[in-house]
Amino acid sequence: MEIENILFAGETLFKNLNVFDLDYLPSNYNFREDQMEGLAIAIRPIFKNSRPINAVILGQCATGKTTAIKKIFEIVEGNKDDVVCCYINCQLHNTLYGIFSKIHKEVVGIEPPVSGLSLTKLYQIIAEQLKKKKLSLIVAFDDINYLLNEVDVNKIFYDLLRVNEEYDDVKTGVFAILSDIEFRFKLEKNVDTVFSPHEILFPPYSYNEIYDILLDRVNSGFYTNVISDELLDDITNHTYESGDLRVGINLLKVAGNIAESNGSRYIEDEHVDEAIAKNISFNLKQSLKSLSEDEMELIRLIAREDKVLNAKNLFDDFNKKTGLKYHKFNSILDKLEFLRLIDIKFTGKGTRGNSRQIILRFSVEDINKCHL
Ligand SMILES: Nc1ncnc2c1ncn2[C@@H]1O[C@H](COP(=O)(O)OP(=O)(O)OP(=O)(O)O)[C@@H](O)[C@H]1O
Ligand SMILES: [Mg+2]
Repeated sequence: MEIENILFAGETLFKNLNVFDLDYLPSNYNFREDQMEGLAIAIRPIFKNSRPINAVILGQCATGKTTAIKKIFEIVEGNKDDVVCCYINCQLHNTLYGIFSKIHKEVVGIEPPVSGLSLTKLYQIIAEQLKKKKLSLIVAFDDINYLLNEVDVNKIFYDLLRVNEEYDDVKTGVFAILSDIEFRFKLEKNVDTVFSPHEILFPPYSYNEIYDILLDRVNSGFYTNVISDELLDDITNHTYESGDLRVGINLLKVAGNIAESNGSRYIEDEHVDEAIAKNISFNLKQSLKSLSEDEMELIRLIAREDKVLNAKNLFDDFNKKTGLKYHKFNSILDKLEFLRLIDIKFTGKGTRGNSRQIILRFSVEDINKCHL
């Protein structure tokens, strides 16, 4: 097809393409009533002139944590002008100065100088402003795991929360958002009792919940009848398997684009298949990129042919190639399973390695396409 035709073809299936953007804030936000209630309960004391409850917000990827925080902040800021809600994306702001600059911007209304102010001074300006304007402050640290190795999180929390002691009229609270349980304990070790948070859990979505959320995107993003219930079922299935709601939202967008560039007015089976194939190869490439040379060696051995392997035989080959011991082999297998590159099945027969079978979750062809 001519490039111009692809780019500028008149027909579109999309009523609103933004609906499929990853930072789109959905107007319908279902299945998270308990969590939104938990957040509201944590914030509410501010309105009764008392301290907010600090909270840890915990859940796997794409379970709606960021969305919940943004929604609740929107509600609070829309109704109260004496509460400042400061959302910090810790992937972007991961230095002490960067974090306090962001808080400064939200509280004072302008950015502080890029450098030149000491942290103590920055803190003082923020605290004085809160006091002068009788403002309360809630700071949400999203994806705080990105901070834990970089800065002294305890110092940040301590600084923010000691405002409560220093000024009667000013109330401050901290939310920490985490997607990895491992960091829950790390956070506990890093941060002492000033924080003592409540926990708000975001469990994974069920199949039906994923279907409903995706259906909602379909209704607001596509024109009517662009995708059938059966195809939406296929996409839901794939999303549920992947454990990541973003996969489904992205598949809808990609399948819609493929249908459109093929001049089709509907999304058809082959468009979904192509979108899924693209998604698999993208994810696979990302996972493979993160592997060490020994881990890659094991994947290469597993991907030699399309058959179920016995762990013992696999270890013998691995050991011949790398000289590495059984213990190391096992820990690599665990990692590959964690990355969802392989499944390990226990047959219950045989001893040690003999009782386990290794199954590649991708086709050998998919893996080979990544040029190992
Ligand atoms: N209940 C829901 N209803 C509608 N859309 C949702 C819902 N939950 C999540 N989403 C959508 O799924 C995507 C991921 O959600 P979000 O960014 O809030 O997840 P998260 O828990 O912060 O993930 P991560 O841990 O990866 O940061 C977003 O596009 C969001 O709009
Ligand atoms: Mg998030």
